[in-house]
Amino acid sequence: MSMKIPFLKNKQSKESFHFSEDNIPNHIAIIMDGNGRWALKRGMPRFAGHKEGLSTVVKIVKAAVECKVKVLTLYTFSTENWKRPKPERDFILRLPKEFLHVYLPELMSNNVRIEVIGDIENLPDHTREAVQYAINKTRDNDGLQLNMALNYGSRLEILDAMKEMLKDIKDEKLSLDELDEQRFSGYLYTAGMPEPDLLIRTGGEKRLSNFLLWQLAYTEFWFTDVLWPDFSEEDFFHALQEYLQRKRRYGGI
Ligand code: FPP
Repeated sequence: MSMKIPFLKNKQSKESFHFSEDNIPNHIAIIMDGNGRWALKRGMPRFAGHKEGLSTVVKIVKAAVECKVKVLTLYTFSTENWKRPKPERDFILRLPKEFLHVYLPELMSNNVRIEVIGDIENLPDHTREAVQYAINKTRDNDGLQLNMALNYGSRLEILDAMKEMLKDIKDEKLSLDELDEQRFSGYLYTAGMPEPDLLIRTGGEKRLSNFLLWQLAYTEFWFTDVLWPDFSEEDFFHALQEYLQRKRRYGGI
């Protein structure tokens, strides 16, 4: 089934924004960069950029629901973000609770399932409790899966996966012969999820910043200089449109 994206109805290029459930990316991962610069450019403190960034999250989640994307993963707080000053860390780590407090009913009515990838145990209690409540509340929803990457670091994820796997080998639950890429993927936080088809990074930098290093092996990358608080639905659909024009060969010809 083909569909038009409603908020692009009046745009000249609307015909090129035709997606179908067959070609829409199953999984989109986003590095939401540029909040701090957005605020500083306006003479505001950095946290104002994170606050505005949350409004962009709301818009892009809605857009992903409309396009019937299956999984949206948002890099919200990395294991390296602990290096930031405590007031900024505390502010960012309050945003998931704030978001869920306001939007959980709407997420429920849109059939969105909340998940977290990352070291959830070492989050502040209020963050962990808010996301755990949302995970439980939305667990039977089968629409968009919204993954918040919280206290997430890909190297830590891979190391933890390796430790678990070696434990299973030692306990003879897994043999070396059985070990392949698919088995290993099953030890990651993203076990059972499709790998990202498209990675979007806003804010002008062109690096992965310890995000989904294993899972992005064959992902298409899309970078923009637009700072996350300025990132619009149009920018999101522009990324999707460019993704649709890519030829994915997975190492073949
Ligand atoms: C990177 O920009 C952004 C972050 C570290 C935080 C992102 C968090 C949000 C947008 C809120 C998300 C909330 C939910 C509920 C998903 P930066 O601060 O590194 O920007 P800069 O490069 O301009 O300094």
